Amino acid sequence: QLPSTVKLVEVGPRDGLQNEKEPVPAAVKIELVRRLQDAGLREIEVTSFVSPKWVPQMADAAEVMAGIERRPGVRYSVLTPNLRGFEAAWAAGAGEIVVFGAASEAFSQRNINCSIAESIERFAPVAEAARAHGIHVRGAISCAVGCPYEGEIAPERVALVARLMKEIGVQHVGVADTIGVGTPRKIQRALEAALRHYALDDVSGHYHDTYGQALANTLASLQLGVWQFDTSVAGLGGCPYARGATGNVATEDVVFMLQGLGIETGIDLDRLVDAGAYISGFLQRAPHSRAATALLAR
Ligand code: HMG
Ligand code: MG
Repeated sequence: QLPSTVKLVEVGPRDGLQNEKEPVPAAVKIELVRRLQDAGLREIEVTSFVSPKWVPQMADAAEVMAGIERRPGVRYSVLTPNLRGFEAAWAAGAGEIVVFGAASEAFSQRNINCSIAESIERFAPVAEAARAHGIHVRGAISCAVGCPYEGEIAPERVALVARLMKEIGVQHVGVADTIGVGTPRKIQRALEAALRHYALDDVSGHYHDTYGQALANTLASLQLGVWQFDTSVAGLGGCPYARGATGNVATEDVVFMLQGLGIETGIDLDRLVDAGAYISGFLQRAPHSRAATALLAR
């Protein structure tokens, strides 16, 4: 019995664009968010309040947050690595913040320049401040099955980080296959590790599609009852600190699969394809989505 409803968190504007070398103008990001909302997305990861030296593409975070058209019932999330990021996110009117840790020590060092233990210490006041302001706190657990520096990651590592996040008041965790090396059973083991500390409604999947496994991993997650996923329109993206990693699973492909399974998402696939075509046109490349490619060819 698969879940009857699935919530997709659109991460294209953030995860999708953060790795683009050429700056994407804020106006284009704002228009992308508009089209995504038109397509029915109800949670959108808009940007990151991180160091612009680390991720130059997200330097316009405040401008983008100020420019997006807010719609009722839509949650706008942003990444915040520290209190400074949180304060900027609060000022920008974010509805949800994401603290991002890792199940791998080496990746934690490369991505946020600190150990896993230090990251939790940093996230604790962020989570506390967010909750005090009524802002939802999500945690991302990167490298939940594999790491570009450490190789395979044991589920126990995921359980440990989930426990630490739970202890500091993070309300939801996303199990992230940063480099897309996960296969269905491994993904299920990583999710089960997070589920030792979080309820089914507070765990999501975040799958990069580097090895073409992300749709299979999504189905394997549904089989466990997990019903929330991060996806990226046109399959945009990659992580600047995970070389060779490609984008998240394409939102279009996941919506097509879910429609076929009779699972409700509230998303209009044609409008979604339009949003993907818009940003792909700007980037001068074809969408990395099989469903979008097929639908555009009709
Ligand atoms: P650091 O160098 O250790 O920190 O970086 P610092 O406190 O010494 O600050 C360094 C500089 O950054 C200073 O500027 C600070 O002011 C500035 P300087 O004095 O050199 O001019 N700074 C900031 N600027 C703006 N906003 C802030 C902020 N904080 C410090 N919030 C830090 C530590 C965490 C800041 C840095 O490592 C960083 O920004 N990392 C971000 C990395 C990142 O964004 N990675 C991609 C997102 S994660 C991801 O993609 C994975 C995910 O998709 C899940 C998955 O797939 O695995 C979520
Ligand atoms: Mg990611």
